[in-house]
Amino acid sequence: MAEGLSTAFGAETPDQYGLVGHPVAHSWSPFIHGMFAKATSQNLAYRLFDVTPEHFRRETLQLFAGGVRGLNVTLPHKQAAAELVNELTPRAARAQAVNTIAFFEDTTLLGENTDGLGLIADLEGNLGLELAGKRVLILGAGGAVRGVLGPLLEREPREVLIANRTRDRAVKLAAEFSDMAEIRGCGFADLEGSPHDLIINATSASLQGEMPPLPEGLVGAGSVCYDMAYGRGPTPFTRWARSLRAAATHKGWGMLVEQAAESFLLWRGIRPNTRPVLEALARQG
Ligand code: ATR
Repeated sequence: MAEGLSTAFGAETPDQYGLVGHPVAHSWSPFIHGMFAKATSQNLAYRLFDVTPEHFRRETLQLFAGGVRGLNVTLPHKQAAAELVNELTPRAARAQAVNTIAFFEDTTLLGENTDGLGLIADLEGNLGLELAGKRVLILGAGGAVRGVLGPLLEREPREVLIANRTRDRAVKLAAEFSDMAEIRGCGFADLEGSPHDLIINATSASLQGEMPPLPEGLVGAGSVCYDMAYGRGPTPFTRWARSLRAAATHKGWGMLVEQAAESFLLWRGIRPNTRPVLEALARQG
């Protein structure tokens, strides 16, 4: 009888979460959230939803109508997600990009962006880097950069330069954040060859196995080079940085795990310990 009751009230049905993107098949998020759920004894399921841009709005709303409690959003939908939700956190409003949506009982769809928190947690917490007073170069000016600029600028780097294949996009993005810090946008061709303390690759060039054309002098003996992309082995960007003898190169595994932990916190009210997941992913190379 007790068993029947618990089933009738759905006590054993896991709460539904997932990732919406296009493509999503390569994603490690189900593995990461699966480990988080087990470690924190949360009864949830996390699935992948491959949704094309033309169907994003309808299919995402259908998922929530069907009982999904929260979604992560990835390429190419982060800016569309900011328009879909009916409330934005101040961070997501500043970024005009959303990577996490939470559905509340009163039917509020809240959009948050945990990318920047994830990047900072990795740079400072996992890698022990100090950002204050540093010269930072960011490659790319898409949704990924929008998400991280606010939290990065709050750390008070000396200057931030955004360089992008399409120059105007970088100039426009820098202007949006110019009230926060010394920040400029330019094209790759405008880059001068003086070294930066931290170079972050946020272009999707690595995903295509490509490397933007950049002057060699950008990397000095003290430069740390961070690729937001991740995968087995070196990326074209980390290979380039190593060939120029960067002080250190890192891939984006840590950012991936830390942004996931922040999403989990928003959904479940508990921030899981990321260390065991980072160790499991480090074994992927
Ligand atoms: P994301 O959410 O990952 O930022 P996006 O908004 O589509 O995705 O942005 C992709 C970024 O990678 C852009 O800065 C893009 O440059 P453009 O603005 O010129 O399109 C950059 N990018 C993509 N492929 C690239 C390549 N092969 N070389 C250099 N930059 C590239």
